[in-house]
Amino acid sequence: MPQAPVKQRPIWLDTDGKTVKIIDQRQLPHQFVIEDLRTLDNAIRAIKDMYVRGAPLIGATAGYGMLLAALNAPEGNPTGAYLRREGQRLKAARPTAVNLAWAVDQTLAAAEGADDKIAAVRTAADAIAEQEVENCRRIGEHGLTLMQAISQKKPGHPVNVLTHCNAGWLACVEHGTATAPIYAAHDAGIDVHVWVDETRPLNQGARLTAWELNRHGVNHTLITDNAGGHLMQHGQVDIVIVGTDRTTCTGDVANKIGTYLKALAARDNQIPFYVALPSSTIDWQITDGLAEIPIEQRDPDEVRWIPGHTGKTTAQVLISPQNCPAANYAFDVTPARLVTGLITERGICKATLEDIKRLFPEK
Ligand code: MRU
Repeated sequence: MPQAPVKQRPIWLDTDGKTVKIIDQRQLPHQFVIEDLRTLDNAIRAIKDMYVRGAPLIGATAGYGMLLAALNAPEGNPTGAYLRREGQRLKAARPTAVNLAWAVDQTLAAAEGADDKIAAVRTAADAIAEQEVENCRRIGEHGLTLMQAISQKKPGHPVNVLTHCNAGWLACVEHGTATAPIYAAHDAGIDVHVWVDETRPLNQGARLTAWELNRHGVNHTLITDNAGGHLMQHGQVDIVIVGTDRTTCTGDVANKIGTYLKALAARDNQIPFYVALPSSTIDWQITDGLAEIPIEQRDPDEVRWIPGHTGKTTAQVLISPQNCPAANYAFDVTPARLVTGLITERGICKATLEDIKRLFPEK
């Protein structure tokens, strides 16, 4: 399989200025495939079918998707009305990650009143990607303080982190959100070990987080989704750090299905449960995560069939009776009361409206 370069992003604009390059994450870890996006429909398919996934990366893809829409405008120079229509189509690609609508709105605001709308959208799309790199770098800096504090309390022993899904650089642009404190701690010489939830049904933990941590040289162990509670009961987890697709301004956290169960187990065992997120993932419009965050339901075949490698080739295998009724809820909501804290680019806060507003007073 072709190796990914050591310094790699999951998305970038090609030197021709009109092709967006992405890693096709459906194929990892067995194949490293770069895909070209040339139209808005290509970008919509990449988000829907999860070539790209993870909230900040969905946002970055949306930014560049709007650039592709602008470049392919039938009249040459796109009108505001055309961009707004295309933005609506893009927003419908996946419902839960708020970064999608946020990024579309950023590009629309940039195009508004600009003479050269293509240039304005390009600048906005680049800015979204670069801003997420910087946000994640800062999340790493702030999260590092938590890792240092744990490490100091148990000299000679590793800091055991449990994470769910993939909230690494593959889900962002660089660093990751949940992985940023892990990488920062590892790079600072702290002994870190990560329990990686496999994350059924699409196995983002087993396929993507394990691949990332291995490339970075971070100690890790893949576990089944149901193992976390047992490990917590036996003192094997010091901290849980996860990402999020949408967090209300009151601190309710939507993340990959199964996150809520980890939060419950963490609370029962007095283990800190942190959520790492850039502010682009905060939904300032809603206050009740359970009632108001739309939860994506995906194709039940993703539950019935599992992709893997036979040793010779990649393959999909059926793991249930054929046509077994199946439901595929992609996310759940962890209520704010179970969240110890939010690690943002501006610092760490409690999962409350007051404390979130302390960090983001302009909102
Ligand atoms: O369905 P996915 O793979 O897009 O879900 C991704 C997650 O749940 C991540 O934890 C979340 O987007 C945070 S990514 C930094």
